[in-house]
Amino acid sequence: MDGSFYITTPIYYVNDVPHIGHAYTTCAADVLARFHRMKGERVLFSTGTDEHGQKIARAAQDAGLTPQELVDRVVLRFQDLWKRMHISHDVFIRTTDPEHERTVQSFFLLLKEKGYIYKGEYEGWYCVPCETFWTEAQLEGRLVCPDCGRPLERLREESYFFALSKFTEPLLRYLDEHPDFVMPESRFNEIYSFVKGGLKDQSISRLGVRWGIPVPGDPDHTIYVWFDALINHLTVVGFGRDRELFETFWPSAHHLVGKDILRFHAVLWPSMLLAAGLPLPRRVFAHGWWTVEGEKMSKSKGNVVDPLEVIARFGVDRFRYFLMREVSFGLDGDFSERAFVERSNADLSDNFGNLIHRTLNMVWKYRSGRVAKPSRYEDREWEELLQEVRERFFAFMDRFAFSQALGEVWRLVHFGNRYLDQRAPWRMAKDPGLGEELDRVLYRLLDCGRILGVFVFPFMPETATRLLQYLGVEEILEDCNPLALCDWGKGPSVFSVAQPEPLFPRLQG
Ligand code: ME8
Ligand code: MG
Repeated sequence: MDGSFYITTPIYYVNDVPHIGHAYTTCAADVLARFHRMKGERVLFSTGTDEHGQKIARAAQDAGLTPQELVDRVVLRFQDLWKRMHISHDVFIRTTDPEHERTVQSFFLLLKEKGYIYKGEYEGWYCVPCETFWTEAQLEGRLVCPDCGRPLERLREESYFFALSKFTEPLLRYLDEHPDFVMPESRFNEIYSFVKGGLKDQSISRLGVRWGIPVPGDPDHTIYVWFDALINHLTVVGFGRDRELFETFWPSAHHLVGKDILRFHAVLWPSMLLAAGLPLPRRVFAHGWWTVEGEKMSKSKGNVVDPLEVIARFGVDRFRYFLMREVSFGLDGDFSERAFVERSNADLSDNFGNLIHRTLNMVWKYRSGRVAKPSRYEDREWEELLQEVRERFFAFMDRFAFSQALGEVWRLVHFGNRYLDQRAPWRMAKDPGLGEELDRVLYRLLDCGRILGVFVFPFMPETATRLLQYLGVEEILEDCNPLALCDWGKGPSVFSVAQPEPLFPRLQG
């Protein structure tokens, strides 16, 4: 439906606790959800956990727990982190939810009835950490996982297959007609040539893996964990269960994933949907990979970044801002404390925070905290800049170019700081003849703060709320379309502001 926006994250494996990589995708999804809500759209934002399969079963065994005990424990870590990161998801789906298990089984039956599922024998290799099947041909003689480099296990077992090979042509045609189905472009090209190489039928069940959803009518088999997991995107919108919900949000789906799992989302998933006769999601966006101080994160290296620690030390909005600003969405990035502190001090303390703090202090110093809307309020330079920033901000947000979108907002911040320096309200305050001009300057700066509060809200909701409260205009967030109020002249007739505390005190490097 027009005006609907469905945004998903991967559902994360619960064999281990969340780290900065999981925080990244979920933060980006949250920014989009908040942005689209601010445009007055109907938004459905879902995240969750992937709880079945051999990987989880083994992790439970290693921990001396039953799989159910393990997943019930680890899921709390994810839910707690999302709360602390101010993630505004509407749905948290677990693949062990009975509703999901029913959806997966009925989807399986649907594809079977349509003749796309058959029984055969799988002979080849399997990577448990990636839950991925590998054929001899794909391995080119090496017996390690081409994705993660870890050892593979040999499988020879009866298996159900999905006739993926039938979708080579239909999927290519779809890609031809929808060049932004997969983003960024480099990923589109990668997927395109993969499909062009010809798709092979996909094994979609495991024998002897007890921790999973049984194949309907053949319970010795459990459904392959990726087939199970991908269907979560349909469970969330009430497929086969809630027609109204389904029609509102499907196919407005936007899937955010890391580049590690793009193929599942851009090849297997759309083929499953085509087989079911369903429309395909709007977009699959694969972002890049975070390293830490230049190295791959791993438990054995002990360099895994715990988001809770970052938040406890630096605050949630510095963390959210860093993730969204530091790297261009789609490219790889590196996390280091030095980069974090530098980025935070430069952008948030010295520029953004400083502009707000100076403005509010002067409003107190020269106007006792109140400035009424002046009669002649217009200023060409401000107006032109805002118009350009707004257009480009929207265009970048449409392409999930978060860093560039923030870059646009910061043009306003820089302009504000320069304007303040040039107009020098402290000099005007000494000349009684310039009283009206001083009002104008202060009002423009306050209105700039109001507009900045709205623009940064999706990225830093806590800071934005605080800022808008300082300015006495927090009710703008209740509006059904606050972004439409980001224009000069839409500010209050009087700004009556609070005594501010610095939003971002400088961090010691
Ligand atoms: O793959 N940099 O779950 P998962 C950036 N259950 N992003 C990272 C990252 C890093 N270093 N590490 C992890 C699964 N991620 C499946 C998904 S969906 C139907 C099933 C993020 O726990 C990134 O989004 O291994 C990546 O795709 C995801 O976590 C993998 O999470
Ligand atoms: Mg993984």
